[in-house]
Amino acid sequence: MQGNSSKWMFAAMTIFCMGLIASAAHAQENANVAGGVVFDPAKVVGSDKCAECHQKEIGAWKQTPHFATWDTLHRKPEARKIAEAMDVRSIKRGDVCIKCHYTRQGEDAKAISGISCESCHGPAADWISIHNDYGGEGVTKEQETAEHKKMRLRNAIGAGMLHPSTIYLVAQNCYNCHTVPNEKLVDVGGHAAGSDDFELVSWSQGMVRHNYLRTGGDSNAAESQEYLRVMYVVGVMTDTEYSLRGIAKATVGKTYARSMAQRANKMRNHLKEINEAAPNPHFAAAVEAAFSAGLKLNNEAALTAAADRVRDAAMAFATEADGSKLAAVDKWVPKPDQYKGTPAP
Ligand code: HEC
Ligand code: HEC
Ligand code: HEC
Ligand code: HEC
Repeated sequence: MQGNSSKWMFAAMTIFCMGLIASAAHAQENANVAGGVVFDPAKVVGSDKCAECHQKEIGAWKQTPHFATWDTLHRKPEARKIAEAMDVRSIKRGDVCIKCHYTRQGEDAKAISGISCESCHGPAADWISIHNDYGGEGVTKEQETAEHKKMRLRNAIGAGMLHPSTIYLVAQNCYNCHTVPNEKLVDVGGHAAGSDDFELVSWSQGMVRHNYLRTGGDSNAAESQEYLRVMYVVGVMTDTEYSLRGIAKATVGKTYARSMAQRANKMRNHLKEINEAAPNPHFAAAVEAAFSAGLKLNNEAALTAAADRVRDAAMAFATEADGSKLAAVDKWVPKPDQYKGTPAP
């Protein structure tokens, strides 16, 4: 056991270090539209790979617009109109729509599918063989030691896995797409300025939900109320962060700038309200940061610094969150009849 696990750790560390070197080169050129999320297409393995072990999750995903957009988007007249206004000749092949509507793969960042597993859990080349390795060949889940489990999680996250055990890691992707942080796309293309009513609990617990792992595939489990409270507040913090990042990039006082500023203001005021109802040092830090920068044009440095501090608070809260002390936010946490779509069985 001892020899096995240190050999495993060495392999994991080597993979992790190689990952760091390779990603530095790609990170800049392929960085996503805004902010914290870096998506490296060179490390995408594709959802067919995940399907080898995650059949049920694939089934649920296929019921969502994230999957369907691959077949539907380029056929829609509204999409063609936006593309035309943007001077984008191919919706699937150009480099604009592809960042949010598709999964990019390889050095040439070609679209291979709609928004897929790795769009939310991170490109998997460096973590796929780590995340399910219980300690070498033949070691089962039941036999895995607690230390190994801790190390496995740490190594998988270190290798770029956006693991749902820290919900912020997954949530940041939602906002990086759903706030639509692209000024030209909104002001020139006429694209929707973000998903107006996007909210993490209601948008993740309906059609998007795929909690089969914890039930051994038997059913698509609902989350506990304690967990949903945490998810709700992480959502508000992350929405605040990404709308601050969005306004930081605004250059003209048109629809994009206006709606991002409104979104940021609404979110930071709600965060303040949450901190008054359920005081917490991480909420307080995020509120202080969010109000430290003016929601105006030409204020990129201050707004980006504020967004970074909100991110740090959201990450710290998500890591140590204890929903049992957050009953005061229940009045805001959406109920099942407010969820977006119905979960797959
Ligand atoms: C060879 C089988 C296999 C493949 C291939 C695989 N997984 Fe997994 N995955 C597992 C197993 C087993 C677990 C459970 C690990 C555990 O017990 O913590 C898991 C766990 C996960 C989890 C974390 C669940 C949690 O909360 O603990 C995510 C997310 C995930 N896989 C995503 C993916 C994605 C995305 C892909 C494709 C890029 C993929 N997996 C490919 C077997 C696999
Ligand atoms: C920054 C991310 C982002 C980019 C880039 C982007 N979109 Fe979108 N798009 C979204 C999101 C998020 C939605 C879902 C909005 C909603 O309904 O909540 C959406 C929705 C749409 C819709 C309406 C969806 C439907 O099914 O009717 C169309 C049409 C569309 N986008 C076209 C385009 C085109 C064309 C491009 C490229 C020129 C593009 N988008 C680029 C994020 C993006
Ligand atoms: C739109 C973003 C998104 C996509 C796409 C997505 N996931 Fe997830 N995934 C999440 C979120 C968010 C959670 C945590 C959900 C929760 O806690 O209720 C999660 C949780 C999981 C879990 C843990 C479930 C459990 O029982 O704890 C696994 C395994 C997983 N995802 C695998 C996959 C696979 C495989 C795919 C591709 C078929 C995929 N995910 C696609 C966002 C996504
Ligand atoms: C890579 C960008 C991207 C990421 C990441 C992403 N989405 Fe989406 N999402 C979209 C786009 C684009 C659409 C609209 C697709 C279409 O209709 O063509 C969409 C549609 C949806 C819909 C359907 C909305 C409707 O009106 O039917 C839900 C629900 C949703 N997303 C939830 C989420 C959640 C929750 C997360 C994070 C856990 C997430 N999304 C992450 C881009 C993204």
